[in-house]
Amino acid sequence: MNALANKHILLGVTGGIAAYKAPELVRRLRDAGADVRVVLTDAAAAFVTPLTLQAVSGRPVHQALLSAEAESGMGHIELARWADLILIAPATADFMARLAHGFADDLLAACCRASRAPLAIAPAMNAGMWENAATQRNLRQLVDDAVRVFGPASGSQACGEVGEGRMLEPLELVALCAAQFGAGALAGRRVVVSAGPTFEDIDPVRFIGNRSSGRMGYAIAQAAREAGAEVTLVTGPVALADPSGVAVQRVRSALQMRDAVLSAVATADVYVGTAAVADYRPAAPAGRKIKKDRDALSVELIRNPDILSEVAALQRRPFTVGFAAETDDVLAYARRKLDDKRLDLIAANTVGAGLGFETDDNALTLLWPGGQRELARASKAALARALIAEIAERLHARG
Ligand code: C5P
Repeated sequence: MNALANKHILLGVTGGIAAYKAPELVRRLRDAGADVRVVLTDAAAAFVTPLTLQAVSGRPVHQALLSAEAESGMGHIELARWADLILIAPATADFMARLAHGFADDLLAACCRASRAPLAIAPAMNAGMWENAATQRNLRQLVDDAVRVFGPASGSQACGEVGEGRMLEPLELVALCAAQFGAGALAGRRVVVSAGPTFEDIDPVRFIGNRSSGRMGYAIAQAAREAGAEVTLVTGPVALADPSGVAVQRVRSALQMRDAVLSAVATADVYVGTAAVADYRPAAPAGRKIKKDRDALSVELIRNPDILSEVAALQRRPFTVGFAAETDDVLAYARRKLDDKRLDLIAANTVGAGLGFETDDNALTLLWPGGQRELARASKAALARALIAEIAERLHARG
């Protein structure tokens, strides 16, 4: 099932600040079953020590090209042959330039030249360096040379700027590596995602709605598809294009969403409820437009079913994931929701300050019984990939 099991990943680390994430990446690749060997450039060794990478990879770290000792062990040709995939993470602007121009003047560049394995890069650099004409020219060359390019993401950078050039998070890179081996982390699984708001009609022209844009749910549906799942997206009214390769079911009200979700999850392995379902609906929607002939108007509201709780209570329940958007005390509320609704995982986020509804960026804390994990501020697409990777990992762990 696990696409990375026993795969040989040659991880090249080049000299950028994102190299501090390399040990975490090695651990995540190994958690996914891969056998990892690390090649470090001299500049990278200024950011992360060979000893750390040796400890987490459980293998000697390779650094020198022109060393009799190194070449008598596993030299560049053996490393190049050993690899099923070469991943350069982080890939600096300088390394991209050397790769694009065919250099082979250090061990990592020589391995890239000598190997017939697929080669992927995870660029990481300051936004200005990324946008620079030479970098973009080299990028086009690399894409022409069939190099896979993972990322970069946009967001806040170590240099203090905000923009494109952040390395993808380790879990996202693991998912993208797994996808290189045909089967994604969710291959053969069925995933149902709910997204967007629900509209609860007051009369034929008015409704109660909310500010959910649907972007997070659409990104999750797309990420699940990229991870190889068969995906059904049940969506309330939003202004977004359908994600490709996903079966989309459009609904309007909470009751319609509940029917669509319950029938879709009957055969699903995973349900992710991102929809901002209206908690209440008008008890008796008027059949005709209500006239403004009164000074005050009361509309009686009654509770809507909690779709997520109903899915979690099913006898044959999928791995059930909820969202908790709060303005305060996010983690406490989220943990309580995880328990009350008997969820397998909940993604908590603070709404406001440029995060949450109607924004491109978000930050999430994932909580599950007995653990939690922070996903730092990033685009919703990047967060969705990281969330899907975590779901896949927990699903596999559960067997
Ligand atoms: O309880 P609260 O509405 O804060 O919980 C949010 C989570 O519950 C989201 O995952 C949302 O999709 C789900 N939910 C639901 N049905 C409702 C209300 C919320 O599925 N009626």
